[in-house]
Amino acid sequence: MTDRVEFGLGKGKVFPHQKARSLLHPVRRLIQSPQALVRWIGLRGDETVLELGCGPGYFSIALRDATPRGRLVLFDLQPEMLSMAVERTGSRSGLAAVTGNAVALPFTCLVRSTSCSSPPSSGKSRPAWHPCRK
Ligand SMILES: C[S@@+](CC[C@H](N)C(=O)[O-])C[C@H]1O[C@@H](n2cnc3c(N)ncnc32)[C@H](O)[C@@H]1O
Repeated sequence: MTDRVEFGLGKGKVFPHQKARSLLHPVRRLIQSPQALVRWIGLRGDETVLELGCGPGYFSIALRDATPRGRLVLFDLQPEMLSMAVERTGSRSGLAAVTGNAVALPFTCLVRSTSCSSPPSSGKSRPAWHPCRK
């Protein structure tokens, strides 16, 4: 991915915030449970979790609830998406929201990453520790 971003619904495009509500449609819960995915990650509760591309926060509430003694950083390219995620998760100590491009993360740290688009049933490998780019 380059720094040039194209918005749209097609392959290689960034899902536009104007369509954000569709990501929160109740029917989605029937096929992709945020709680089940977060349980699968196996958090202890004291980690710092970076949710890349959090969008309007479909997974954010489950991640917040799974990190009561940790930190959750909501991260998205689009401030409009981030605002929706923040509104959903509410305020709590250890909760932060950062706008930026994942191509050039503004962090110096290690993060435990997983793809929220890979449900537990997909058989893909469990999350692992990955270094941030900076
Ligand atoms: C299809 S939405 C999915 C949102 C959420 N993870 C979900 O499953 O409902 C993808 C999100 O990733 C964000 N995104 C895409 N490319 C990004 C990038 N390079 N850096 C940060 N966020 C990005 C978009 O702005 C959008 O909010």
